[in-house]
Amino acid sequence: MKKLYLLGMAAALACPYTLAEGTAPAPTKEAFISDLLSRMTLDEKIGQLRLISIGPDMTHEQIRKEIAAGRIGGTFNSVTRPENRPMQDAAMNSRLKIPMFFAYDVIHGQRTIFPIGLGLASSWDMDAIAVSARTAAREAAADSLDMTFGPMVDISRDPRWGRSSEGFGEDTYLVSRIAKVMVQGYQGKDVSAPDSIMAAVKHFALYGGVEGGRDYNTVDMSPTRMYQDYLPPYRAALDAGAGGVMVALNSINGVPATSNTWLMQDLLRRDWGFKGLTVSDHGAILELVKHGVARDGREAAKLAIRAGIDLSMNDMVYGKELPGLVKAGEVPEAQIDSAVREVLSTKYDLGLFADPYRRLGKAVDDPQDVNAESRLHRQDARAVARRSMVLLKNAKDTLPLKKAGTIALVGPLGDAPIDMMGSWSAAGQPTQSITLLRGLRDAVGNQAQVLYAKGANVTNDRNSLAFLNRIIFDRTEVEVDPRTPQAMIDEALKAAASADVIVAAVGESRGMSHESASRTTLDIPAPQRALLTALRATGKPLVIVLMNGRPLSLVRETEQADALLETWFTGTEGGHAIADVLFGDYNPSGKLPVTFPRSVGQVPMYYSHLTIGRPFTPGKAGNYTSQYFDEDTTPLFPFGYGLSYTTFDVSDVHLSSARLKRGDTLKASVTVRNTGKRDGETVVQLYLHDVAASMARPIKELKNFEKVFLKAGERKEVTFNLTEEDLKFYNTQLQYAAEAGDFDVQIGLDSQDVKQARFELL
Ligand code: NOJ
Repeated sequence: MKKLYLLGMAAALACPYTLAEGTAPAPTKEAFISDLLSRMTLDEKIGQLRLISIGPDMTHEQIRKEIAAGRIGGTFNSVTRPENRPMQDAAMNSRLKIPMFFAYDVIHGQRTIFPIGLGLASSWDMDAIAVSARTAAREAAADSLDMTFGPMVDISRDPRWGRSSEGFGEDTYLVSRIAKVMVQGYQGKDVSAPDSIMAAVKHFALYGGVEGGRDYNTVDMSPTRMYQDYLPPYRAALDAGAGGVMVALNSINGVPATSNTWLMQDLLRRDWGFKGLTVSDHGAILELVKHGVARDGREAAKLAIRAGIDLSMNDMVYGKELPGLVKAGEVPEAQIDSAVREVLSTKYDLGLFADPYRRLGKAVDDPQDVNAESRLHRQDARAVARRSMVLLKNAKDTLPLKKAGTIALVGPLGDAPIDMMGSWSAAGQPTQSITLLRGLRDAVGNQAQVLYAKGANVTNDRNSLAFLNRIIFDRTEVEVDPRTPQAMIDEALKAAASADVIVAAVGESRGMSHESASRTTLDIPAPQRALLTALRATGKPLVIVLMNGRPLSLVRETEQADALLETWFTGTEGGHAIADVLFGDYNPSGKLPVTFPRSVGQVPMYYSHLTIGRPFTPGKAGNYTSQYFDEDTTPLFPFGYGLSYTTFDVSDVHLSSARLKRGDTLKASVTVRNTGKRDGETVVQLYLHDVAASMARPIKELKNFEKVFLKAGERKEVTFNLTEEDLKFYNTQLQYAAEAGDFDVQIGLDSQDVKQARFELL
């Protein structure tokens, strides 16, 4: 047997793989994989397609036996080096020594938790988002992980859907920009590096379009909407080099993604040229039976492998059914080979054939305490978190607060370490998260007094509590205070009575915005609303700090609050970061990545809807226009909206020409001025509208933005380049082209408050 020299001398010396006797050293990855594949039995091949969750189903010993027998290709949910090393050792004892890979849902941090997706998106700050992803990758790789099931880039326009929290909002362009940055952050310059992890973008595809916002429900969507609005973020992640794709649980126009050959073969592999790994979602292959497209597990396995699902997540169905299907000639072995090839290729790209212990390292170097403080990146988390908050209201300059007098912090989320982290908080430890109470106290030191009263439970609804305390296995998520609602309010009022200002931390517990956590109302739960009403009645300045994972309907709260700050779920350093904003140590600069409707009845409500024949014109309500007669038809807060402690002014739009020739560039400029007394940042947003086209086009679409910092009184010219590329769209024939004619370019500080100019594409 000859040692394999294809990865450089150092790697080859460590490399445990050998070529078959008499074969020349393999010069390429392709040759290496072909050689390995040629030596695998059918069972070993099928074993590589099995991805298991480390949980109560099998003992560690059973798992190691299965691995050594070549019956498992990778795991998820085992997240430390001591947990994973014995499994890699077992793989090294298997006949062909094919390494395992270890994956996990590293969505917004691994140990240091960053803001949830909606929070990251609210920063509109690609550098900050990159820091979050890079830090997450470093921490995850240091924990021996090779892959994340992320980024989650499902466009979501229905806030009833609990997974809205995980994604980056409603807008195709913004989510696509973030998808790219997340992938680059996770994978670094080289995905094989010991501090990089592979990104598996999810959930392919259109998962955010579930009907009624009810998780796992069906998705029915026109091809133009798919191509124009929902598919580009996945494509952006792949163009940025994401090595993997997780397939969605939903069906698309009647065909489950998991058995959808159009989606997985025609679109993903043929049209987009994807050559990486595809992973089913949890148990999704067997769910083809429940979807009603497979009679039994055998047919489900056949449909999935034919569609091109490489890895089956946490079920035995491939192992059980594929051998028989191949023997019966119903699944060609070549189909199995191509799935295995993608798995092996992923392991190769991760550098695992060169060194199976690349991210595991040596046992002597394992951290003594995986949760050690020294393993966290608190400064980065705080810097990113404070950029992720959106100031929605600030009457009479209530904010920033003074570090003086007495502050009454009230509300069930004021001292809630678990909730600070948001859902999908990976290996984050609640004991390490800074609550708002702690953040405020650290900020004021002995300059001011901070009182705290819970004031209300997150919810008193028994069914909701049963649900919230059921879904996360190892702890009670929502602690219920047994006192009566009135007793809790009274305690809060007592604290408020001796305070100069009230800060009310209200919203959702993190489990309310999670997988399978769909809601029929967007209201803050009743006991918290009662608390706010009581606090308002005190007449004291009321600052509402919102913690939530979806747009909420906040009409009443917006009236009640003197100041309203959307913080989402801010992560490990959340309390410090919120205090930074409340006291003005950081001037808020976030902008909403989602529209806030007034009520759930307006849903779906998103800014980039198509033009229609009888549009509603604000201020001109009338018969037979597209409106709700019982409620204002406009959103409460539009997409792109967010205030600052200073004010900004945007000049009229100046175009370098009134015409754009294809191949040329047109410049659209504005001058932005900081007209207030503080330095600050804002996001200058550029929207386009195609005035008349072969089909109805969105009333506006975000096409570019720039986050600018301006000192008080400073002005800056912001120029955007526009080319034919920015004007292209998918027409009814799904051709991607720009049509000649007029375009409106709109520039402003949110999607409604814009200045406009017109040009013509020749
Ligand atoms: C199911 C979720 O839909 C998916 O996002 C996640 O990656 C897997 N479970 C694994 O935890």
